[in-house]
Amino acid sequence: MELNENEALKAPDASGRFGDFGGRFVPETLMPACLELEEAFNESWADPSFRKELDDLLADYAGRPSPLTDCPNLSELLGCRVLLKREDLNHTGSHKINNVLGQALLAQRMGKTRLVAETGAGQHGVATATAAALLGMECCVYMGEVDVERQKLNVFRMRLLGAEVRTALSGSRTLKDAINEAMRDWVATVEESHYCLGSVMGPHPYPWMVRTFHEVLGSEARSQCEERLGTTPDVVVACVGGGSNAIGIFSGFADSPAELVGVEPAGGAAVGRGVPGVVHGSRSFLMQDEFGQVLEAESISAGLDYPGVGPEHSFLAASGRARYESVNDAEVVEAFQLLSRLEGIIPALEPAHALAWVSRERASLAGKTVLINLSGRGDKDVDQILQLLEKEGRA
Ligand SMILES: Cc1ncc(COP(=O)(O)O)c(C=O)c1O
Repeated sequence: MELNENEALKAPDASGRFGDFGGRFVPETLMPACLELEEAFNESWADPSFRKELDDLLADYAGRPSPLTDCPNLSELLGCRVLLKREDLNHTGSHKINNVLGQALLAQRMGKTRLVAETGAGQHGVATATAAALLGMECCVYMGEVDVERQKLNVFRMRLLGAEVRTALSGSRTLKDAINEAMRDWVATVEESHYCLGSVMGPHPYPWMVRTFHEVLGSEARSQCEERLGTTPDVVVACVGGGSNAIGIFSGFADSPAELVGVEPAGGAAVGRGVPGVVHGSRSFLMQDEFGQVLEAESISAGLDYPGVGPEHSFLAASGRARYESVNDAEVVEAFQLLSRLEGIIPALEPAHALAWVSRERASLAGKTVLINLSGRGDKDVDQILQLLEKEGRA
């Protein structure tokens, strides 16, 4: 496929396609809801009063801008200058709040009274439950049974915030299955519910809308880097589940010379191991068997345990503007401990993937400036890591 590099910066076409990827593959009952959402988003995003309301919430409620942190100890060890974009310091503990505040305000504008969401690691569920509490909306979050077990703390937080958490018992009982159930709920309750999707995936307009709500983190990072370094970093690295934190930071550097690297879990490497297919409403790289059946993803990190990826990432991979690498669970656990010990920052297991790749590739990164999107904090993961290290006799 011939693609112009600059095309990667553009919005999708009218049918929501980024080149060969994206689109809107939904049951007929959901088509009007997708069209209504697209129109409401376009109209709201063009309205300065909506942007102001969102900007005020991002600043006064979520705590933006998030800082840029230099990591002197880690930089010395790795031989490259490592900078972190601190999305872990946002209210509710991850980048997810940027998108959720945007969608919740939009849902309210559309007259919806209920938010439906899916969650893997629980961070998107917590962010959605938080926004629902703030705006006085009902909230129902679907979560796979496996994730309910490994992310108990976040399940409790969602319930404290007034949300109902429904356990998805089908399939691999992880994120993919939670999305299926949330979509089913949306079909049945579309009059009063907005589906607050947690990543840059799903049918159009979700991938573009979610990316737009996350651009704030990329544009902040770009100006912070220019101020601190006098230029852009050599490499920008982010973990990729559905891909929202990665798209957010990539969007700030897509028209710069920076190399863009997305890091997937080895057991859920949709770009690395997938082939194009349709899942959850759009066409993208997807792990599937020879009969087109979706393969189960497997990752230590609940937030990356997904066999697909957002369509814009497939487009960026196909055009060569971004590259996608993978790391295994053992490398992630090591990176999780490394950042904690060297810099006093306990990362979530998801961004520990980005860090693991930088740590492994230190030889080729020598002397470079590397920006890592620290998409979330590790509070939710310490119990899981404690159990793992105890089992291995290392705690
Ligand atoms: C902290 C954190 N980072 C990353 C992700 C992965 O999502 P995405 O690829 O959409 O950023 C999650 C998902 O739960 C998360 O909690």
